[in-house]
Amino acid sequence: MVQHHQHEVIIVGAGGAGLMAALYASRGADTAVLSKLYPTRSHTGAAQGGVGAALGNLEPDKTDWHAFDTVKGADYLGDQDAIEFMCAEAVPIVYELEHMGLPFSRTPDGRIAQRRFGGHTNNETKQPVMRACYAADRTGHMILQTLYQQCIKNKVHFYDEFHVLDLLTRDGVANGVVAVELATGDLHVFHAKAVVFATGGHGRVWEVTSNAYAYTGDGVAITMRRGIPAEDMEFFQFHPTGIRRMGILITEGVRGEGGVLLNGKGERFMERYAPTVKDLASRDVVSRAMNLEIKAGNGIDGKRYLHLDMRPETVNKYAELDGRKNPDGQPYRVTGEQLLAKVPDIIDFARTYMNVDPIKEPMPVQPTAHYAMGGIPTNMHAEVVIDSKNTVMPGLYAAGEVACVSVHGANRLGTNSLLDILVFGKEAGLRAAEYAKGAQYKALDDDPTAFTREQLNRLLKSTGGEKVVTISEEMKIKMMDDVGVFRGEAGMRSAEQKMRELRERYKKVSVEDQGRKFNTDLLNAWELGCLLDVALVTSVCALARQESRGAHAREDFPKRDDANWMKHTLAWLEGDHVRLDYKSVAVTKYQPMVRVY
Ligand code: FUM
Repeated sequence: MVQHHQHEVIIVGAGGAGLMAALYASRGADTAVLSKLYPTRSHTGAAQGGVGAALGNLEPDKTDWHAFDTVKGADYLGDQDAIEFMCAEAVPIVYELEHMGLPFSRTPDGRIAQRRFGGHTNNETKQPVMRACYAADRTGHMILQTLYQQCIKNKVHFYDEFHVLDLLTRDGVANGVVAVELATGDLHVFHAKAVVFATGGHGRVWEVTSNAYAYTGDGVAITMRRGIPAEDMEFFQFHPTGIRRMGILITEGVRGEGGVLLNGKGERFMERYAPTVKDLASRDVVSRAMNLEIKAGNGIDGKRYLHLDMRPETVNKYAELDGRKNPDGQPYRVTGEQLLAKVPDIIDFARTYMNVDPIKEPMPVQPTAHYAMGGIPTNMHAEVVIDSKNTVMPGLYAAGEVACVSVHGANRLGTNSLLDILVFGKEAGLRAAEYAKGAQYKALDDDPTAFTREQLNRLLKSTGGEKVVTISEEMKIKMMDDVGVFRGEAGMRSAEQKMRELRERYKKVSVEDQGRKFNTDLLNAWELGCLLDVALVTSVCALARQESRGAHAREDFPKRDDANWMKHTLAWLEGDHVRLDYKSVAVTKYQPMVRVY
């Protein structure tokens, strides 16, 4: 039986972007949130180190510096109008969260505490600046809890554990979604005036990732299946410090507090790659340096990992060598107790997952697939745009990691993802509610669940014998090897080929659980279809871009090529064919320069 619901604004996803959108939309429209997880289990909860805002609480800082650092970090592929907007909104939005009750860590005189993070600098001295506003190393978790409470207070309707599988449209206008209720297996049609996608990223494409199991690219895959392009899919960020083999995130905040990366010879190798900011260069730079060190045989014991050292004696030694000072001019020094207060979860993770006490021993780390810069194309008002002329699709919005605004361009700076979800989540909610106010419900098609049923029935009825786990493993390993931190033509061609082969084999995937209740077997199989679509598009876009920029580092085209490639990629998945087009980057006042850290 199919159940029907009607809400003016439907939000898909209950992470920070979805909840911020819900909070703002609910002030002007009847709003519902659909999430395949219980909301407070969303992946925003895994964001650790901080949210970027030039509050200047501990040392001088400026919104303009934040904007320039973001443009530079993005390797000049970010849209500068959107970046300026985001950085200007950062300061009031952090205070707004504070007033909602978010328990930020505090300076001794009671203001929001801030720490250093990669790529964030004082533009005059070129030194790292304390811009990341943090709640210990649980900033995302606190944002999620705070926003969820506000949404409950505001009477947002929550449909928890409702997995959205399709977007409904009529005459080019979004008018709803189809979801399966996990507990019953029933299909539900949600008729809406406006739909906001806030479904997060797709890091599960890669073998080693910091991303939750839920990060399977649903939003991008669903919209691509409905003819909407994906933007800049070749740009996927590897965070330098994932726990060896497991990929679990070790926050950049550790380096912000003075931790350093060391190779197997005990060298602080970042001094060679980024002489000014060293371990706090942007993530693309640090991840590449780590891979080069490993390739040169400088891993720990010659193996494929390095050390992140935050022992107080190491932090204090390098702080002294760097001449690092506290805001009061005194030399920067830390104790184990202070570190425990600043990054308690990291210390806990290290003990739990590595059996390492980071106050006494260095942590084994390697780059981990972390963040999608690409996604559903939007303008700076979170409206989805569907071509190179930025034509808006009425009624459809996207925000957070699933969206490509693009404020992160070719490489996102740490702390800007939490900022992005707040600023553009709010924008999506406001715009969607405003649009809904002036819109009528557009009639649904006669059989709105037809496409969803076709997808699920195919999986349930297939007797082909292919296994989800096998295809998934093959995809992840191939993408890690050939569309990872470094890429070359031969590898990417073979990755594209492999993704085509896996998509064929996917048609023969069998699902053992034929039941209706909590059929995660079926839904994992459906999610794999999303990942494969995303992986194919990623490899095709990456192969096409013949330059190196930000996170897209080609061995065969090692230089950035602004003359030919300072443009965004748009990709349409048409059956098995990926069609590409390009659109220009919005430039305001920052002309492209060579990046030096
Ligand atoms: O390192 C971190 O805490 C991650 C933050 C981010 O991705 O912005």
